[in-house]
Amino acid sequence: MALVGRSAEIARIAAALEESRRGRGRALVLRGPPGIGKTALLEEGIGRADGFRVLRARCQETEAGLPFAALADLLRPVLDHLPAVPAPQQAALRAALALGPPAAPDRFAAYAAALSLLGVVATDSPVLVVVDDAQWLDAPSREALVFCARRIEDEPVAMLAASRELAPERVDVPGLTEVELGPLEPADAEALLARSTRDAPLAPTVAREVLGLAEGNPLALVELPAAMGADERAGRAPLPQPLRAGEAIAGAYRRRVETLPGPARLR
Ligand SMILES: Nc1ncnc2c1ncn2[C@@H]1O[C@H](COP(=O)(O)OP(=O)(O)O)[C@@H](O)[C@H]1O
Ligand SMILES: [Mg+2]
Repeated sequence: MALVGRSAEIARIAAALEESRRGRGRALVLRGPPGIGKTALLEEGIGRADGFRVLRARCQETEAGLPFAALADLLRPVLDHLPAVPAPQQAALRAALALGPPAAPDRFAAYAAALSLLGVVATDSPVLVVVDDAQWLDAPSREALVFCARRIEDEPVAMLAASRELAPERVDVPGLTEVELGPLEPADAEALLARSTRDAPLAPTVAREVLGLAEGNPLALVELPAAMGADERAGRAPLPQPLRAGEAIAGAYRRRVETLPGPARLR
């Protein structure tokens, strides 16, 4: 379903894709708390990446400690291009991904191989690398992707990542842009709530209460009404408990943001 609002973020994603398509690779990292709409924006980006070869990794918390797990997922569909990568890099990547004989770990060669491989694939069509839940990237995959992000400026390769983590204090990776996702604009939050309650409308006072609790978080605007019974929707009964849980998550994230120095908060 079409997104509500987020036109500025969508424009940035579209611009990054357009630049990348023209051979000036760009990387964007979307950041924000759970439910704020990171995955939805990644999907929007994929939907706009006409003609791109899309490579995706969805990181899992359970695999955050497994070296190269995410990179293996990401590159698996294009490993048939590996023979076009310089031999020493190829061997390092095969070893890292446990596809070849174990070798002394050479991370630099493996990262260079990942970059070379993206470059090879990008000779056929522009490439879009999508990494969701990047807060759970295993360390070598994260390093590999940052390594690549710094070096795609002259390649038709775009990278879009989403993470719950706040931006690091100093970000000076050329070509890598941080996009902090805040709450939906009030009018957009109202529109999304109206959409999510079309079949089971809320009494106006209840709608206002839900808008207040949700604080512009799309997941809350979709899920809170779904958890409500007829009496709650009509304002005859107090709102159920999970609503408060959602609020607690949003509140915890806000407190983290508030501990940051001003300039970092604004990023
Ligand atoms: N701008 C939006 N318009 C409409 N629905 C949205 C929007 N952003 C997020 N959603 C919906 O809200 C829910 C949570 O969004 P999601 O992208 O999964 O959040 P995140 O990945 O940040 O945890 C999903 O059901 C998603 O479709
Ligand atoms: Mg998500």
